[in-house]
Amino acid sequence: MSIVANATGRVLRSRLAASLASPHGVDRYLELVNPMWAASEVRARIVDIRREVDVAGHPPVATITLQPTSTWQGHRAGQHVQLGVEVDGARRTTRVFTVSSPDSKAGDRFTITLRANPDGVVSRYLVERAKVGTMVHLSQAQGEFVLPDHVPDHILFISGGSGITPVMSMLRSLQRRTHRGRITFLHYAQSPDHQIFAAELEETRRSGYGIDVHLLHPELGDPALSPAYLERLVPGYRDVPTWACGPAPLINAVQASYDGSEALRVEYFKPPAVSNGSAEGDIAFTRSGATAANSGATLLEQAEAAGLTPAFGCRMGICFSCTATKKEGTVRNVLTGETSSLPDEDIRICVSSPEGDCAVDL
Ligand SMILES: Cc1cc2nc3c(=O)[nH]c(=O)nc-3n(C[C@H](O)[C@H](O)[C@H](O)COP(=O)(O)OP(=O)(O)OC[C@H]3O[C@@H](n4cnc5c(N)ncnc54)[C@H](O)[C@@H]3O)c2cc1C
Ligand code: FES
Repeated sequence: MSIVANATGRVLRSRLAASLASPHGVDRYLELVNPMWAASEVRARIVDIRREVDVAGHPPVATITLQPTSTWQGHRAGQHVQLGVEVDGARRTTRVFTVSSPDSKAGDRFTITLRANPDGVVSRYLVERAKVGTMVHLSQAQGEFVLPDHVPDHILFISGGSGITPVMSMLRSLQRRTHRGRITFLHYAQSPDHQIFAAELEETRRSGYGIDVHLLHPELGDPALSPAYLERLVPGYRDVPTWACGPAPLINAVQASYDGSEALRVEYFKPPAVSNGSAEGDIAFTRSGATAANSGATLLEQAEAAGLTPAFGCRMGICFSCTATKKEGTVRNVLTGETSSLPDEDIRICVSSPEGDCAVDL
């Protein structure tokens, strides 16, 4: 059966099939017959939506289970996917979500867990309006924020809010693989009611198995993250391989505590805020004719502040939806620190901050 399926898949992915289906591509025809048939694209059907957190007056959090098409190649714990939806018949809008379930193989079901951003397009749609049966578009899994093949004997996870998703996928994978080493897991939430995966983490905390779970609520008096607290919990923590993901203030505190240690890996859901104290020069948005004094923020944020509405997807340099041509000037990549001064250069404006005067085709 799988030999037949593989052979059919090869034919559907062939150049002959592509030329016969031109200009729409094989996947457009397969999708019309059955949305779960695909030759190369990845799509998924929502098969379950479960509220994780529902506190009155706060954005709800939900876990969505996806059944992908057989083209899904699986993921490594910690990776994310680009997910596209057509909200109210508008053009497809894409955002990035981390897979929260353990490592998956080709065709396996998996989950994403997301907070409904009150001003957001995609997260609110998925949490508040999408239904079981809704189809979504996916990329293959991406990202380097993963565990190494040889898992160290002691690892430390630190997360805050919805930043729990990649480390939860890692924790679940390690539990499934019956990892024998020691795991220390610190998670920061506003209150016990805001705790994502509360019941499962409580169960893990009680059952032990070498996993130290610390669910912390500094607003209710628990210790905030600090070098002294980390040292008390995990002596010599700066040398313990650590994966951290969460809101900017938490990640800033983690980075300050690790003081440049190579044992620390961090994942951002948003680019780190750019210091705008020393920004100089002016920005010219050449197509619209708008201008602005350079605030030092990313070009996407500065364009939005000037009233423009450039296309964007991930706002993190992953999806290339925001690519625009920089006519002149120097920009710095806010994730890597690299600068570039080439004229007529295509840049991702969501992660590019101008240094001095800059002209961009927006
Ligand atoms: C690697 C990665 C992994 C992620 N994993 C998760 C996850 O597991 N769970 C999760 O909940 N989230 C995750 N995210 C965040 C997620 O991708 C989305 O950013 C988030 O859900 C908001 O998307 P949205 O479409 O609802 O909001 P958007 O429509 O993108 O709006 C978000 C914000 O953008 C700003 N904005 C948008 N349009 C404008 C405008 N015209 N002018 C000014 N400002 C504007 C506003 O501040 C708004 O609040 C991840 C992000 C990355 C990069
Ligand atoms: S919005 Fe995705 S790369 Fe800029």
